[in-house]
Amino acid sequence: MQLDLTDKVIQVAAASQGLGYAIAEQAAAEGARLCICSRDPDAIDAAAQRIRDRGAEVMATALDVRDGAAVAAWTEACIERFGRLDGLVVNAGGPPAGGFDEFEDADWQAAFELNLLSAVRLIRAARPALARSQGAVLTITSSAAREPIDALLLSNVMRSGVVALVKSLSRTLGSEGIRVNNLIPGTIETDRLRALHGQMAQAMGTSVEAVQEHVCAQIPLGRLGQADEFARAAVFLLSPIAGYISGANLQIDGGALRGLW
Ligand SMILES: NC(=O)c1ccc[n+]([C@@H]2O[C@H](COP(=O)([O-])OP(=O)(O)OC[C@H]3O[C@@H](n4cnc5c(N)ncnc54)[C@H](OP(=O)(O)O)[C@@H]3O)[C@@H](O)[C@H]2O)c1
Repeated sequence: MQLDLTDKVIQVAAASQGLGYAIAEQAAAEGARLCICSRDPDAIDAAAQRIRDRGAEVMATALDVRDGAAVAAWTEACIERFGRLDGLVVNAGGPPAGGFDEFEDADWQAAFELNLLSAVRLIRAARPALARSQGAVLTITSSAAREPIDALLLSNVMRSGVVALVKSLSRTLGSEGIRVNNLIPGTIETDRLRALHGQMAQAMGTSVEAVQEHVCAQIPLGRLGQADEFARAAVFLLSPIAGYISGANLQIDGGALRGLW
């Protein structure tokens, strides 16, 4: 099966490491040209260079996805550089962990801007170009959107908002030829996951290895996922061969989610 991504242009937000980087790297391996961003200029430049070293064209931009003007300018610059846009990956860092008593209004507002408003702005900016190319939007959320996690209240709520946005836009942007889908990572081994497991280990007075063993015991496949396993699903959904898939939520979780849907 050929993914047909040669010379397509894919924009990946929050891509200096972790899931975003893995998607950019995988899309480049399939022949795509990339526009990637993250906040840290050195980190995003280094990430871009690693992908360029493998022969792909990459534009790297330092920006915070919470900055609406910067998001609009980034999309414009990407289209100016490559003349088209075929795919958008909506991604950002995760909101802080905690429960209902731990958050003030400002925390809710910050999580909204990081994980939901950024998605709205990224999609709004890319929409005209994606309509021209009959392209695709792919959001990255969390299993928290399907099965709330007690210690991740902000994520539970904001990710659910993104899932609702994806389903709504799959209907209204479908008439423009834009596909809109969502990927649900379970426990994919990245720096963020390692940091979360470190925090859990400290809180529980145990080792990171013991936390990981406990986590893996809840996963039918018995192990953490790898970023490249996640990225392959992402690149498939971005590619034209997924041309009749829109409004879908695909979990990459080793079978961990229990719901029938
Ligand atoms: N890994 C998992 O198993 C898992 C599970 C559920 C949900 N998720 C969610 O999936 C997303 C990606 O996770 P990950 O594991 O890849 O995390 P990660 O390893 O921490 O990587 C996060 C990336 O986002 C960038 N970033 C963070 N905040 C940003 C902002 N405001 N603007 C622009 N770029 C930003 C970071 O670079 P800079 O620091 O340079 O900005 C980095 O490149 C997160 O929202 C996470 O909560 C992950």
